Amino acid sequence: MIVLGIESSCDETAVSICKDGKILSNIVSSQQVHSNYGGVVPEVASREHDRLLNQLVIKSIKEANISLNDIQGIGVTKGPGLAGTLLTGVSFAKGFSQSLNIPIIGINHLEAHIYANFLAYPKLEYPLVCLLVSGGHTQIWYIKNIFDYELLGDTRDDAAGEAFDKGARILGLGYPGGPIIEKIAKKGNSDLISFPKAFMEKDNLEFSFSGLKTSLLYLVKKNQLFEMEDIVASYQKAILDVLVTKLARSVIIKKVNTCIIAGGVAANKSLRRLVEDKLNATINVYYPDINLCTDNAAMIAFLAEIYFKKGIRSNLDFEVIPNLKLK
Ligand code: KG4
Ligand code: ZN
Repeated sequence: MIVLGIESSCDETAVSICKDGKILSNIVSSQQVHSNYGGVVPEVASREHDRLLNQLVIKSIKEANISLNDIQGIGVTKGPGLAGTLLTGVSFAKGFSQSLNIPIIGINHLEAHIYANFLAYPKLEYPLVCLLVSGGHTQIWYIKNIFDYELLGDTRDDAAGEAFDKGARILGLGYPGGPIIEKIAKKGNSDLISFPKAFMEKDNLEFSFSGLKTSLLYLVKKNQLFEMEDIVASYQKAILDVLVTKLARSVIIKKVNTCIIAGGVAANKSLRRLVEDKLNATINVYYPDINLCTDNAAMIAFLAEIYFKKGIRSNLDFEVIPNLKLK
């Protein structure tokens, strides 16, 4: 089955075509305009999606080497995300499905991040534990079977991606913070500064990153004579250590043989290495290619196809849900 995927939950305009679980084309246009503002401006992002979607769909059909009428279904992100940007993508997709008379399904962005691992590794087996780390979410899920989720841990305040982005903003490094911090951290000593790590006591699976952020702010205000590379490396380590510790705990608690990492922060190579160092000797560790960790539409098309094949589709009046949960 050939499925078109559309993703517009934030500032990436993404379009992809998948066929029988494989990617035929996968285009992501990251909106650069927001870097002038230090964060995403929702109104600007919606207008950019509106301007780009049609041309990216045409490009994506061309790259996939198919014709418009070959498309048999369309999947589009319905949440979570920014209301206006979601609406832009969903309205476009609804019109598209009507004009071609093909089924449409609204997809949960978080579920799609998780299923990017199945796109990359079709033979992945349940049960497994997933560390889901993005700009808005930091959660650990026990996935017993397909679409069967149990939440093991969640953040009480900021998400891990937010900790990267806000940290970079405090240090005047630009947006988005994750890739910038990862790059600078490579040159620094991550053991030089000891930043706070929340909820580290035995068996605790919760997260909190607001104290870490405040601690960075104080350090900068006190103007202590640390090198930028060392501050950044130590700050990144404080985030990653907590993620890896709690993931390892969850794996033990649930006695699984497999764990996966998903979401934008999973693109971080130090996180991947730390998880492998800690767990690879005992269980199987998986994570998708970097372009399938950060926001993309291949994960949307891939998951849409799974739903279509189960006979599930949305009615044309489905709505966007900005605060949509996985469960
Ligand atoms: O999944 P994603 O692309 O969008 C959301 O669904 O939120 O995640 C975006 C988040 C941002 O906070 C960004 O700073 C972070 O992922 N991120 C990274 C890296 N690449 C993106 N964080 C750490 N290291 C990276 N290499
Ligand atoms: Zn995302």
